[in-house]
Amino acid sequence: MILEASEIPFSYGTNRVLEDLTLQLQPGMTAIIGPNAAGKSTLLKCLSGLLRPEGEVRLDGVSLSNLKQDQLTRQVSFLPQDFSTTAVLTVYEAVLLGRVHQLGWRVSDDDTRIVDQLLEEMKLAEVADRFLNELSGGQRQLVAIAQSLAREPEVLLLDEPTSNLDLRRQYEVCTLIRRLTDSRGISTALAVHDLNLASRYADWVYVIQEGRLRCGGEPQSVLTEAMIADVYGVETHVSPGQEGRPLITVLGPVVSDSAQAPREQDAGDDV
Ligand SMILES: Nc1ncnc2c1ncn2[C@@H]1O[C@H](COP(=O)(O)OP(=O)(O)OP(=O)(O)O)[C@@H](O)[C@H]1O
Ligand SMILES: [Mg+2]
Repeated sequence: MILEASEIPFSYGTNRVLEDLTLQLQPGMTAIIGPNAAGKSTLLKCLSGLLRPEGEVRLDGVSLSNLKQDQLTRQVSFLPQDFSTTAVLTVYEAVLLGRVHQLGWRVSDDDTRIVDQLLEEMKLAEVADRFLNELSGGQRQLVAIAQSLAREPEVLLLDEPTSNLDLRRQYEVCTLIRRLTDSRGISTALAVHDLNLASRYADWVYVIQEGRLRCGGEPQSVLTEAMIADVYGVETHVSPGQEGRPLITVLGPVVSDSAQAPREQDAGDDV
């Protein structure tokens, strides 16, 4: 399914956070990057229907405002950046809750099979009977991701899904999300700060800066030393990594104006 935002502005009260942003999520993986407070989470909330901006957000051409809530939650799953919960649930119950729109008066074999498989794949099976408040921060994040995946949505929106995970888990979880995105043919977007994760796993990268879409396109065209210096104020060395995808080595903060001297070519497709 294609989820597209056209010219959406968004303000919290009088604070304008998004400026007429237009972008499209299509089957495959899209990374949304940008500095703190750029508007990434706000954008994902608008795309999920949680916030209702002016302008239009359409799912396969149908405005979200014309979709019933249950149609929307069935098709679009959103994992917020702050996923903490006070609910007294076990890991198994929390992941099973992801199936809630499929559940009738009883849990089907399909539901238990899907939950069991996800718990296994995310290495959560051994803590399946533990309560959420007995888990580490990273384990809780894995449960939240598993719950999103259990929904089997057409569009999966994940806001910094790997922020609490150790280095290896970050790659394992992204590999799993990538595999499920491909095998289910779904459109997945994830907001991430780690540019190397974006580079390695995304088909497309969108850069949000001060509420605007700075540029977007394939990782090779977007993740350039010039873009990173301009947007993040950080000097990097970008070299071809796995499958020619950019491998970014951080050198340090840009120290002087001369480090930002006129660049021959800007990154990506300017919008
Ligand atoms: N509920 C809210 N009420 C008022 N202002 C908000 C609210 N949520 C976010 N903001 C403001 O909107 C701007 C964009 O915030 P947003 O959370 O979208 O940024 P972000 O790009 O996700 O940042 P981060 O990388 O830190 O998660 C910030 O200036 C923030 O202070
Ligand atoms: Mg955010």
